Amino acid sequence: MLYIGLDLGTSSLKMLLVDEQGQILNTVTLDYPLYFPQPGWSEQRCEDWWDACVKGIPQLLEGFDAAEVAGIGAGGQMHGLVALDKDDNVIRPAILWNDGRTADEVDYLNNVIGKAKLSELTANIAFAGFTAPKVLWMKNNEPENFAKIAKIMLPKDYINYKLTGVHCCDYSDASGMLLMDVEKKCWSKEMMEICSLTDDQMPKLFESYEVVGTLTAEAAKLLGLSESVKVVAGAGDNAAAAVGTGTVGAGGCNISLGTSGTVFISSDSFGVDPNNALHAFAHADGGYHLMGCMLSAASCNKWLCDDILKNEDYAAEQVDITDEKLGENRVFFLPYLMGERSPINDTDARATFIGMSMDSTRSDMVQAVLEGVAFAIRDSFEVAKALGINIPRSKICGGGSKSPLWRKIFANVLGIPLDMVKTEQGPGYGAAMLAMVGCGQYASVIEAADALVEVASTTEPDAVLQAKYQQQYEKFSRIYPALKEVFPLLK
Ligand code: XUL
Repeated sequence: MLYIGLDLGTSSLKMLLVDEQGQILNTVTLDYPLYFPQPGWSEQRCEDWWDACVKGIPQLLEGFDAAEVAGIGAGGQMHGLVALDKDDNVIRPAILWNDGRTADEVDYLNNVIGKAKLSELTANIAFAGFTAPKVLWMKNNEPENFAKIAKIMLPKDYINYKLTGVHCCDYSDASGMLLMDVEKKCWSKEMMEICSLTDDQMPKLFESYEVVGTLTAEAAKLLGLSESVKVVAGAGDNAAAAVGTGTVGAGGCNISLGTSGTVFISSDSFGVDPNNALHAFAHADGGYHLMGCMLSAASCNKWLCDDILKNEDYAAEQVDITDEKLGENRVFFLPYLMGERSPINDTDARATFIGMSMDSTRSDMVQAVLEGVAFAIRDSFEVAKALGINIPRSKICGGGSKSPLWRKIFANVLGIPLDMVKTEQGPGYGAAMLAMVGCGQYASVIEAADALVEVASTTEPDAVLQAKYQQQYEKFSRIYPALKEVFPLLK
């Protein structure tokens, strides 16, 4: 039997064809545009996501027996608001996870409804990227669109709807809507009232590995698959990536270095950060997790190289960053290109280079970007440590983790060994594993992870370098507090 894993990312749809042994037989990636209609806004056309599926899945299957495909699973960018009308047409472009337009709604939720109430109802507080503030933004700013809403859902749920005709969502992704009671795994009636939503506007909730339906006749025909193919509910991309790296059950940790950067701590029991700096979400394995999310991680390096230095050869930009330069940089970078979520929750924060002098070089600045992202991830690590969570080692995944230099910087900034897994394919691989569980190939997500995930290499920290990075981190930690009051003036 074969399985398809989809990763509905912010810049592309990545599709994987996986066999029963977990071997990746083929991959296809198709890009789609990201729109920034106003500063701090971030949108995508839901139709572009589906078009990428319709074009990409037949390509993925070329040379393989499509009749062998048993299941499909999707992991997707979280929090994005997809709104459908009564005929299931998309009402407006999706408002994405890294969109910062909802400052007023976040302020209303956190300060009028109150953080304590939100945390009691959902285990989380409002962040600009979360879905509930976007629903309120639509109500306040586009009342004619708001009035048309028959169903809301998250990005990968739109794909699942197009595949099966079922309006569904899984617990891991639904956790990031601020509309679900995470501990009890059900929609929060009070949150729905606060956001003027009704029961019938909400999708049905499932565990990530549960089958939501089979392909509609139309989808089967478009994709070249049988109508008997099962579709599982799938997961938010971070939960799916965690499954793909075997970060399941109690006490695992995964760092994802994609467009966003996340620290994902898995747990078999529900827990909340009392200060809500880390998100308390459900996991795709049936358990829970805590997560810190920075909005611009590998995207900082991509921005610097592609847009500013006009060189897409990232490895070439890193050749001058030799070992003796690590831990010695006098240039620092705050990675807040899209504002920041964890742990500072500041939509006004912006990226900053600081510390340059006449002898600063291009590679010092590239190095500062790689280090700044690692320091900002450490900020979330420190929150977890302060909660008494012990993180002796972590997996690392995502596009940025492919750089050995960046992995070395991370291992020394965090002071822990970082493991790369053999089939490092991010959320798509985890999503295919969820499909295997849904189709009965494995009894549970943990069993699938035990059977399929293997560590391929480990980056160990070095005591001398770790001590140098400790001093560097202490300097980094003073920059944002010193500039915090300035950022709102720059708008
Ligand atoms: C997580 C988050 C991001 C997106 C990226 O809370 O907002 O990691 O899921 O796709």
